[in-house]
Amino acid sequence: MIIAVDGSAASGKGTLSKRLANYFDLAHLDTGSLYRALALQLLSTGTNSDDIDENQVIKESLRLDLGLCSAPEIRTDSVASIASKIAALPEVRANLLALQRSFASDSSHENGAVLDGRDIGSVVLPKTQIKLFIDAKLEVRAKRRFKELLRAGQSAMFRDVLEDMRER
Ligand code: DC
Repeated sequence: MIIAVDGSAASGKGTLSKRLANYFDLAHLDTGSLYRALALQLLSTGTNSDDIDENQVIKESLRLDLGLCSAPEIRTDSVASIASKIAALPEVRANLLALQRSFASDSSHENGAVLDGRDIGSVVLPKTQIKLFIDAKLEVRAKRRFKELLRAGQSAMFRDVLEDMRER
């Protein structure tokens, strides 16, 4: 069984996916964490969001350290800002798309997998039969993102987070 969970930012798709994974004993991949892990890997080589070398990003995406996907630092603003820029590069998307698809089809995941993130149902796993789209009220999503930032050790104002999400 392969489940694709798409949804608006901070709508709770990660939380839902983890619960589905626990309930059905599935492997779980938060696909946004791949983009964030790549951003963190780049940050550690001195990249910042105003100075992104496309060739280097492509090279790093081919040797992405998947262990970084679980690092708390991937939730910081500086990582998110690089992640959103590199996510716009077609070659990076293609490389990470391959990783996502191979996770979904990995036969060592006996009962299957749940993948959440942008474009999962439409681009990454268009043929999967179980597709969910999660949304929540702006205030609820902003509260969730605000807590996430605090957990990552960021100082943030709820008002700014709310405005930021409203503009997306
Ligand atoms: O969902 P998130 O905020 O953790 O995603 C991090 C970044 O990666 C964000 O800029 C969107 C991008 N992303 C993407 O382009 N495709 C995905 N499947 C998941 C995330």
